[in-house]
Amino acid sequence: MTNGAGIITTLIHETENGAIDRAVEKIFDSELVALPTETVYGLAADALNDVAVKKIYHAKGRPSHNPLICHVSNNAMAQRYVRVTPLAKLLMDSFWPGPLTIVLPQIPENGIAPTVSAGLETLAVRCPAANTTREIISKLDRPIAAPSANISGKLSPTTAQDVLNDFDGKIPLIIDGGATKVGIESTIVAVHDNQIKLLRPGMVTADDIVHATSVPVRDYEGTQIVAPGQLQSHYAPNAAVLLNQENTGEHFFIGFGDTTGDLNLSPNGDLAEAAHNLFQHLRSADKHTEGSIALASIPNSGIGIAINDRLKRASAPRDESST
Ligand code: TXA
Ligand code: MG
Repeated sequence: MTNGAGIITTLIHETENGAIDRAVEKIFDSELVALPTETVYGLAADALNDVAVKKIYHAKGRPSHNPLICHVSNNAMAQRYVRVTPLAKLLMDSFWPGPLTIVLPQIPENGIAPTVSAGLETLAVRCPAANTTREIISKLDRPIAAPSANISGKLSPTTAQDVLNDFDGKIPLIIDGGATKVGIESTIVAVHDNQIKLLRPGMVTADDIVHATSVPVRDYEGTQIVAPGQLQSHYAPNAAVLLNQENTGEHFFIGFGDTTGDLNLSPNGDLAEAAHNLFQHLRSADKHTEGSIALASIPNSGIGIAINDRLKRASAPRDESST
């Protein structure tokens, strides 16, 4: 597990003796470590260390204008770095630890490496539900910057093996926490002036947020790119992706509900199960076909909105500004 650069990539299971301490040590040493979260695997570096954070952009081939999410172990850690308004606190209390990222104004001179937020005055903060990763952050007593652990523009990783496929010989350590539960990236909201804007749909839906806060959730309507995840091409497999298809037998077919096909996201029509399987099925399809991948239509409600968001990007013309 080495390459010309001489980095040996070690993969250890989260339950192995010393796994957490090894991750903490590497991150303290300005190294990158891939960690499990409940959504997708993250490529983590010490968020206070500019040299380490730059390694993330380099390893992923990520455009430097695309900011990273800062992962914290609890609300109190977030409060050291961002201004937590009562509305933001209500969101944290309602959904953390869990798959909700909140974009908030940074406290000036908070020590966060400027490259984390790509120079923005805001910072995206998230407290992951995965215990191992929260424990690592807790032991470090500082946040970790972590984008999804995939080469920029490729599918997000939901297993340690996916990470190894992209980063073998490029990072020293991968912590294996098994297949991720949620399977798609966190919901991202920006909280500003007592308003909530949805920047990226995910498992926590707009309805969930309205229910918890009684504040309406707006879609981002400006022309400026606030979350580059909103760019057209993103989360793309190699093969072309066709949406809302019937199974004609011509393409590799991924069904949903009561459809026959090469694979099925959820034979019972369960959207959470479909999200869990989405990237893994796209990866398998990519392996098994030289042609196109066709997908059944997915209901555009609840988590289906996040699934369709990812599928729309997977089927869009490819660009270079992805995460
Ligand atoms: O579930 C997740 O969120 C995973 C796991 C590892 O936590 N992370 C993840 O990171 O999906 P990434 O880098 O692949 O996507 C982060 C998104 C990007 O679209 C980025 O533009 C946006 O968050 N973002 C980060 N900081 C931001 C900010 N200050 N304002 C607006 N958008 C921001
Ligand atoms: Mg990503």
